[in-house]
Amino acid sequence: NAMLQWQRTAFHFQPEKNWMNDPNGPVYYMGWYHLFYQYNPDSAVWGNITWGHAVSRDLVHWLHLPLAMVPDQWYDANGVWTGSATVLPDGRLIMLYTGATVDAVQVQNLAFPADPSDPLLRSWSKSDSNPVLTPPSGVGPADFRDPTTAWYDPSDDTWRIVIGSKDDDGHTGTSMVFRTRDFIRWELVPGLLHQVAGTGMWECIDFYPVATGGNAAKHGVDTAATANGDDGVRHVLKASMDDDRHDYYALGLYDAAQNVWVPDEPDMDVGIGLRYDWGKFYASKTFYDPVKKRRLLWGWIGETDSEHADILKGWASLQAVPRSVLFDVKTGSNLIQWPVEEIESLRMNRTDFSGITIDTGSFFRLNIQKATQLDIVAEFEIPKEALEAVNEADIGYNCSTSGGAAGRGALGPFGLLVLADKKLTEQTAVYFYVSRKADGGLKTHFCQDEVRSSKANDIVKRVVGSSVPVLDGETLSLRILVDHSIVESFAQGGRSCITSRVYPTEAIYNAAGVYLFNNATNAPVTAKTLTVWEMSSSFNQPYPAEA
Ligand code: FRU
Repeated sequence: NAMLQWQRTAFHFQPEKNWMNDPNGPVYYMGWYHLFYQYNPDSAVWGNITWGHAVSRDLVHWLHLPLAMVPDQWYDANGVWTGSATVLPDGRLIMLYTGATVDAVQVQNLAFPADPSDPLLRSWSKSDSNPVLTPPSGVGPADFRDPTTAWYDPSDDTWRIVIGSKDDDGHTGTSMVFRTRDFIRWELVPGLLHQVAGTGMWECIDFYPVATGGNAAKHGVDTAATANGDDGVRHVLKASMDDDRHDYYALGLYDAAQNVWVPDEPDMDVGIGLRYDWGKFYASKTFYDPVKKRRLLWGWIGETDSEHADILKGWASLQAVPRSVLFDVKTGSNLIQWPVEEIESLRMNRTDFSGITIDTGSFFRLNIQKATQLDIVAEFEIPKEALEAVNEADIGYNCSTSGGAAGRGALGPFGLLVLADKKLTEQTAVYFYVSRKADGGLKTHFCQDEVRSSKANDIVKRVVGSSVPVLDGETLSLRILVDHSIVESFAQGGRSCITSRVYPTEAIYNAAGVYLFNNATNAPVTAKTLTVWEMSSSFNQPYPAEA
């Protein structure tokens, strides 16, 4: 079926076939970026969870490797679940992962490379001491999973990790810290790192430092290097909320001595404030890249079609393009996420559409050869006079409930339609909407409308997004990566991100197009700059039969 075949992506990571979920143990080792992932070797639905494995020199072109770990022990018989890598100062690599035991108890296990001199790390040994951590008293046997990368605490010469859980009432998400000297004998550090009422089970916690001042803020920070909130370092606490299936993060201060992390803004706490992504994006994990001194984020992008469709396709899930993560020094209140620069090596056939003005209530088709693999960069300008005219009715605008791309307000929606056919019967809209706040100021929303993305009816289609900070003098800027069935968008340099899975039935192959659109009633909008690149494929390689 040509339509299903078209949905496979060209430059996003996905296994050759079958089911994938969380990214696991991302790490740089002996010249290679390693990505492990939750994988079902037998089918396109979740189950029989093993660790799939692939390596890359550049985070773009991947070589698929044999399974790294399979459920072959009593302590992981029900699945080799999510885990993280830690690189010790002497270069040794430690892998910690959750095993679902024969009795479905969640325990933490230790594994290490069987041959540390193999840069491809093809063979893994599980420790004879496994499991090294079992649910502490008061923690449910099925509420104890996904250990983080460890960091070193010089005050007591221990390595520490965080594990997520939920408390007895089931509604409070929690995070516990454990410490060790040998990665075998572990001890619970008294107290909780953090908890938030009403958020439920915290999966796949990530906990890492970000530099906030001066030149340091341009680089990532090694997890191991900073235990104690060095000057200008804040810590990001991220949890994947099992209840609503989104990755939430918050910035805060980590006090190792007290074993607590405190959010900068209590009303922007984990689970109630910022998300990495307002669309489909879950179970993500960062790692520190020592080569380019950056922190990189991987995230699992599931399907929003039916399980039946996944079985017909023979595969399910992608990984988002890896994103570099930095503290936003301009706003001071959020992270910046941006596709790794290496992805730009796939750019080709650049077309410049800068300077096009789209009148109120109109659209404009961009003349592009092939519009199924794209990198689009745009900056929009609204005439100053128009900004004065935003009306009262816009107060309380909300991406999800305010009429989507077809709704019309004074200063929005406007932006781009991708994967759109000539009649615009299928289209995915990526747009801004500028509204007035109760205090009179302006508030900019960044949204993605999936409602018309496909004529198929077995698909989850929503309008998603949030408000995004726009500082004085800034244009409204946008970047969109289109890759067959995924649209990944970044506003204001990565302050806000939205990922959608879309399954057009007609806007595929040569029938897919890109449009500028402006549904604002009061403002012509100018695409001050607009550049579109067609993207080459990454042509990932299968593992050679006998290498
Ligand atoms: C998150 C998750 C993890 C678990 C793994 C199992 O998607 O549920 O909590 O370790 O997936 O595949």
